[in-house]
Amino acid sequence: MKITIIGTGYVGIVSGACFSEFGHEVVCVDNDVAKITALCQGQIPIYEPGLADLVAKNVSGGRLRFTADLSEAVPRADAVFIAVGTPSTRRGDGYADLSYIYAAAKEMAPCLAGYTVVVDKSTVPIGTARQVSRIIRETNPTADFDVASNPEFLREGAAIGDFMRPDRVVIGVENERAAAILREIYSPLYLIETPIVVTGIETAELIKYAANAFLAVKISFINEMANICEAVGADAVALAKAIGLDGRIGKKFLHPGPGYGGSCFPKDTVALLRTVQEYGVSARPDDFAGPYGEGSPNHRP
Ligand SMILES: NC(=O)c1ccc[n+]([C@@H]2O[C@H](COP(=O)([O-])OP(=O)(O)OC[C@H]3O[C@@H](n4cnc5c(N)ncnc54)[C@H](O)[C@@H]3O)[C@@H](O)[C@H]2O)c1
Repeated sequence: MKITIIGTGYVGIVSGACFSEFGHEVVCVDNDVAKITALCQGQIPIYEPGLADLVAKNVSGGRLRFTADLSEAVPRADAVFIAVGTPSTRRGDGYADLSYIYAAAKEMAPCLAGYTVVVDKSTVPIGTARQVSRIIRETNPTADFDVASNPEFLREGAAIGDFMRPDRVVIGVENERAAAILREIYSPLYLIETPIVVTGIETAELIKYAANAFLAVKISFINEMANICEAVGADAVALAKAIGLDGRIGKKFLHPGPGYGGSCFPKDTVALLRTVQEYGVSARPDDFAGPYGEGSPNHRP
């Protein structure tokens, strides 16, 4: 398969390196020309164990290259993955800033040639793929394409292993034609019996937020329990171990500590709450304190 990835950040470069390792022909695009120039000279902008070797191997194998020019990268692609950033808006209201996604959609639209699946790999709220579809259709009414959602679950620091041996792959599509291309892209993972969960687009978009929210809940829950342990003289580590041994609960993400942070959980949990609010579903006022708000186990006055 021929794959183009727009956005050569953490997710874009790891996905590009791993897809090319699967045997696909991959072009990673970024509008940060300095980043692309450095990548073309073999400099990797992030440290991720195993990434530099994987990139070097696939570049020299002719399966992976980097460019700032969408017009040469997009027309050839069977699938174009959008992997640009979706930070919280600068307004500070917790909504995901989708301007990078929409800009990428608008820029790629005139370059589409032949049937292409346009795939949101970035973490995006419900309805984003439909907006991407609308933007492409408006910009290039003759484009032959479908949109899809393929959220990414990799962890920084373990990204290559997570991508090459994921717990599951989620594919959100509207029809079998798009599903077939995405199944083919991930086909090497059938060898290790990776579950491929094929859903509708909205479900796939929500799965990513639901997964991050659940992990954040586990972290916050064990911190609440640690507070109770401190008050009553109980051992929080022993408690975490004992409840984690219950197969229904699981031991991961049950380590009392400073609360969750990083590049994704804070923005994604709040963005999910904004979706809840937008759709008017079970919105309790104290849900909206945010991950560091008053009443939250992560709150530091
Ligand atoms: N970093 C993680 O651990 C992780 C894990 C899973 C999912 N995600 C999600 O994946 C998405 C990308 O995250 P990231 O950490 O890779 O972001 P990042 O900031 O590292 O990379 C984004 C890249 O996109 C480029 N870009 C922006 N607009 C562009 C455009 N119009 N054309 C070409 N390039 C453009 C930027 O220059 C940058 O290099 C986000 O939605 C994030 O929530 C991240």
